Amino acid sequence: MSLYDLIISRRSIRQFKQEPVSRDILQKFINASRLAPSAANRQPLEFVVVDEEKIRKEVFTCLKWAAYIAPEGNPKPGHEPVAYIVVLVNSEIREKGFEWDVGAAIENMILAALEKGIGSCWLLSVDREKLREILNIPENYKIDSVLALGYPDENPVIEDMKDSIKYWKDQARQLHVPKRKLEDVIHFNKF
Ligand SMILES: Cc1cc2nc3c(=O)[nH]c(=O)nc-3n(C[C@H](O)[C@H](O)[C@H](O)COP(=O)(O)O)c2cc1C
Repeated sequence: MSLYDLIISRRSIRQFKQEPVSRDILQKFINASRLAPSAANRQPLEFVVVDEEKIRKEVFTCLKWAAYIAPEGNPKPGHEPVAYIVVLVNSEIREKGFEWDVGAAIENMILAALEKGIGSCWLLSVDREKLREILNIPENYKIDSVLALGYPDENPVIEDMKDSIKYWKDQARQLHVPKRKLEDVIHFNKF
């Protein structure tokens, strides 16, 4: 699949097969992240990879899924992520203005994962205090985001947005994700 086709096929995945993702592969995602663009090349990001079952279970309790349809969008028992990448910001390197770095780094991981057939969900709704304790994160690191990973066990679809941006599930439990139309977001030359 071309990179463009991969990009437009990507959806957030919240139901996963219980098939492990190897450390080699997870390490590649971090490599893709560390080489992402970084403002002033400051490189404030570090990563915690969680793949051990016991810690995964603890991390799971810190996450909130698909708020518009909660609890319907939660990973069902037996469909939880099989790995997490927790994105940290070293506050001694950058205290603010790191969000663009995080965005580029996470998108690199998401696409590197997609190329391997691995789905992901980027989460900001995280109980950071609890997660800090579970993972032993020092106080001088900000916990920014969590990327949940695993082989997809759902197949969300996009649709043209009409009245609402809220994603929804149909009777077959397929997730529909409304997207603004191309002609509604594009401006050539002048607004
Ligand atoms: C910065 C950011 C934070 C997000 N936080 C969460 C979250 O906490 N929980 C969740 O289930 N999804 C989260 N998402 C996923 C969005 O809900 C999802 O991207 C959106 O519904 C569009 O669906 P799509 O990714 O399939 O295009 C987040 C996405 C982004 C970019």
